Amino acid sequence: MKPILFVFPGNQAWADPLAREIKAELGRLTLRHFPDGESYVRIESEVASREIILALSLNNPDEHLLPLLFAAGTLRELGAARIGLVTPYLAYMRQDKRFHAGEAISSVHFARLLSNAVDWLVTVDPHLHRFHSLDEIYSIPSHVAHAAPLIADWICRNVDKPVLIGPDSESAQWTAAVAQACGAPSVILQKVRHGDRDVEIAVPQVEQWCTHTPVLVDDIISTAHTMAETICQLQRAGLGKPVCIGVHAIFAEGAQEALQTAGAARIVTCNTVTHPSNDIDVTALLGQGVRTMLFPQNSPPSS
Ligand code: R5P
Repeated sequence: MKPILFVFPGNQAWADPLAREIKAELGRLTLRHFPDGESYVRIESEVASREIILALSLNNPDEHLLPLLFAAGTLRELGAARIGLVTPYLAYMRQDKRFHAGEAISSVHFARLLSNAVDWLVTVDPHLHRFHSLDEIYSIPSHVAHAAPLIADWICRNVDKPVLIGPDSESAQWTAAVAQACGAPSVILQKVRHGDRDVEIAVPQVEQWCTHTPVLVDDIISTAHTMAETICQLQRAGLGKPVCIGVHAIFAEGAQEALQTAGAARIVTCNTVTHPSNDIDVTALLGQGVRTMLFPQNSPPSS
């Protein structure tokens, strides 16, 4: 029997093609808010003994988490066989340490909530920094898909003479993989973060790349201060206007404008979070991940 995929509002752009890709039936779900702001959730499909897939990206996680937990809990009560979550952007991965006394290590608490709600999880390039694998904090099986080959392919088709630039050591994992896949040189810069919107970027000798097109690659564009500050430093060093590529288009208020004002020649993202800058389609990656979770015996080991 086909799995049933429930698409949460705002995720149709990637989740409808995913349903077609994995030949899932679309589930019927009503989500709305009561006048007092509480969430109303109703599962309208027959789900007893069925494989269920919940499809929603976890940008704005505080808004999306409760409806997700209510839906998963209800599906369980209605007798679903197994509940999987496809969340191309997995939130709360950056607060992976108690940076100051008394702070919540939100990554761990968030992982516990999701692990208690669903049976498996598929995502794209979670921000793994101090944790090296989702298994360190998630107690359910997970599949991590990597966007690097798709980003490399986009660069090969759209950018003349690229030089890949990673704004900080955390971005080295994506930048190096993309650079290798498209046979381009790469440079990793150094970032010191002083606050949410206050970053300092140190640039090594880059003058040799003045005749190349800089391509900034990072996993998350949130306030865009990391990329905007990087652009300023690269322009000071004599490089041209860069193409800015992010895996996850979080774009806090004013971020896109900040990036354009700083001098981005083009801003491109993967469709892990629906946004006008989406130009790299991860549907096939998500489909592979779902198949790995549904039919582990037929799938190659996940990295
Ligand atoms: C953190 O290290 C990430 O890889 C990104 O560099 C960071 O999240 C970008 O954040 P923002 O756009 O707010 O500078």
